[in-house]
Amino acid sequence: MTFWNDRVLPVLIEKACRSHEILDERRRYVPRASGEVIELGVGSGLNLALYDPARVTRVTGIDPSQPLLDRAAHRAATSPVPVSLVKGGAERMPFDAGRFDSAVVTFTLCSIDDVTAALAELRRVLRVGRRCTSWSTGSRRLRRRSGGSAR
Ligand SMILES: C[S@@+](CC[C@H](N)C(=O)[O-])C[C@H]1O[C@@H](n2cnc3c(N)ncnc32)[C@H](O)[C@@H]1O
Repeated sequence: MTFWNDRVLPVLIEKACRSHEILDERRRYVPRASGEVIELGVGSGLNLALYDPARVTRVTGIDPSQPLLDRAAHRAATSPVPVSLVKGGAERMPFDAGRFDSAVVTFTLCSIDDVTAALAELRRVLRVGRRCTSWSTGSRRLRRRSGGSAR
């Protein structure tokens, strides 16, 4: 536990992920998730207000950072959909194979040490043919990849 990791870094990460451009992209794509949703690297929960309660059964957010999960817990309390928060890394997730219908991954892949392992694990926990929506940042523009089947 350090002051930087527990107090400063969570605030910086949240600020960096809240620009108008990024919020517009979140509003456009997060409501497309449906059923049981896994959110990799849920962070402070900036997507949690944007899920469509008519489409989503539950969002399960996983993240290794307890300070960010603590922030996400506040947003989970007012989310329009039920939310479960799990502390852990995407490379090894404590979920059964084929448990989820959709995956949302925003600005997280660049933070994961072993992306290959995380994507293999994501493939395992998603049902066949289900949706994965992922965005990453690159240069000044937002790069977006959406849709396609997980398997
Ligand atoms: C830039 S933040 C994005 C947070 C959130 N997805 C968003 O859009 O606001 C990157 C997130 O990835 C998380 N992260 C880092 N390593 C991870 C791992 N191995 N598995 C899952 N999440 C990880 C960080 O804790 C952080 O919450």
